[in-house]
Amino acid sequence: MQIRPLTGDDRTALTGWVTHTAGSPVAVTPLCAYDIRELDGFVAADVDGITGVLTCAVERQTCEIVTIDALQPGRGIGAMLLDSVRKLAVQRGCKRLTLFTTNDNLQAQRFFERHGFRLAALYPDAMDAVRQIKPKVPATGDNGIPLRDMIRYELKLRRPEIS
Ligand SMILES: CC(C)(COP(=O)(O)OP(=O)(O)OC[C@H]1O[C@@H](n2cnc3c(N)ncnc32)[C@H](O)[C@@H]1OP(=O)(O)O)[C@@H](O)C(=O)NCCC(=O)NCCS
Repeated sequence: MQIRPLTGDDRTALTGWVTHTAGSPVAVTPLCAYDIRELDGFVAADVDGITGVLTCAVERQTCEIVTIDALQPGRGIGAMLLDSVRKLAVQRGCKRLTLFTTNDNLQAQRFFERHGFRLAALYPDAMDAVRQIKPKVPATGDNGIPLRDMIRYELKLRRPEIS
């Protein structure tokens, strides 16, 4: 498995996939909306092709993970993508990594908690505002859980993490 920065060709190939899985190339958080086609990021690939993608946005001293997807969960792809973005954030002088997830995404919550992220903020009913922009977002999410709220996670970065 290899991790490399996202290229222009990747963006073209991934736009259709992301639009299919997320319903739109726009990622909406309680604080802003991103067109993920314009973001930096990383791709995980093996001999058969792309196995994972992460997109991120750096603003001042914060690096936000906007999307992270492992096409084959449970193989360590998410962990490798996270390691790459953590190094990028430190190189760019960021003090924190942050991301938003939804209340139904227990798999993501477990993943980020196990990687040291802490709960930073809860945005009750944030999905109502998301549905104003992306009306196809369903009322029920993973595991049959009502899809209502957004959660912000944060990981403080320390200089010794530079390698
Ligand atoms: C969340 C997500 C990115 C995690 O990626 P992943 O590649 O499955 O993550 P990893 O494989 O590194 O870790 C997942 C689990 O597999 C285990 N694992 C890692 N490498 C492994 C290996 N080689 N063999 C067996 N298990 C392994 C880890 O211990 C981890 O266990 P945990 O969930 O109990 O912590 C992935 O589940 C995903 O794409 N979800 C859908 C999209 C999504 O929800 N994104 C987040 C939005 S905020």
